[in-house]
Amino acid sequence: MKVSFLRLCAIGLALILALSACSSGLSGTAVTGKTLVLSLNQSESHPSYVALADFGQRLKAATDGRWDVKVYPNETLGAQQEVLQLVSDGSVDMAVASGTQLENLNPHFGVLNLPTTFKSIDHQMSVISDPSIVGGLFTSLEDSKNLTVLGGLTQGDRNLYTLTGPIREPADLHGMKIRVQESDIHIKMVNAMGGSATPMSYGEVYTALQSGVLDGAENNIVSYVTQHHNEVAKYVARTRHLIGLDYMLINSDIYAGMSDTDRRIFDAQWQQTMKEHTAMWKQETTKAIQQATDSGATFNDVDLAAFDQALAPVVKGALKDPADHELFDAIQEANK
Ligand code: GCU
Repeated sequence: MKVSFLRLCAIGLALILALSACSSGLSGTAVTGKTLVLSLNQSESHPSYVALADFGQRLKAATDGRWDVKVYPNETLGAQQEVLQLVSDGSVDMAVASGTQLENLNPHFGVLNLPTTFKSIDHQMSVISDPSIVGGLFTSLEDSKNLTVLGGLTQGDRNLYTLTGPIREPADLHGMKIRVQESDIHIKMVNAMGGSATPMSYGEVYTALQSGVLDGAENNIVSYVTQHHNEVAKYVARTRHLIGLDYMLINSDIYAGMSDTDRRIFDAQWQQTMKEHTAMWKQETTKAIQQATDSGATFNDVDLAAFDQALAPVVKGALKDPADHELFDAIQEANK
């Protein structure tokens, strides 16, 4: 098995973190305070990093220094899939993970990963703040994985971008290898949109685009720019095929081990972070579009009806059982 140097460093770091967690006597027992280790796959210029660094500062001030958050950006601790395991076993305290990753742990999360689920970012944020809709989902990983979902950060609308283009309709994607997240739903989604879906972790996409292993990818414009994909894939097709969602996860023992007072403070600061991030998102998207355009990227509209038609069977096929339908319907109801 080939293990990269970076991966070895990440494992080494995780082990050190695990040892320091043991020495402070965690795992379900009461903890008076800690600098929480938070894993993020975005760069420091991404709004999620900015919002989470601010979360740490506010938490520290509000708890008189007892609790703090240290954000490790750029997949330093590993890609999302691996880090979820590290949070589960307690060697990392918190992580941001895309909904596509949670779909692999509990398929019902898949309902929130579909095209058409969310009509706007405001709709999405109001749904994930409503325990009557998502309460069961957010605690569903506690017994099996020791993971608690605290809420989410929007990914905004996701679009296609390619090395050659423009892409205006599904037929234009024929034969093109398009990177998708490691999700069954998203593989089917991009195949239905006319491409050849190629699952890959986030941090590998730039090199794969640059070397021509991929013909394109799909993401929001903020990530397109902060990951420098705009330097190599210059054609952006405004498919807006879905509004994605990142989740904030914490090791359930750590969360349960906080005093009631500190957990209340922690929750309040986190709620504020979600609001700040949502407010930041729109202006950061506008900024990213400008940056991409200045760097020579072109944006074009697409035949939305043709893409909608191609995607309809994917949505239908993913709503597998009555619980999925119920969740999907409750989400739609919340938009009325
Ligand atoms: C977005 C999202 C990440 C996700 C990434 C991806 O940037 O915020 O959580 O990992 O898309 O496409 O992998």
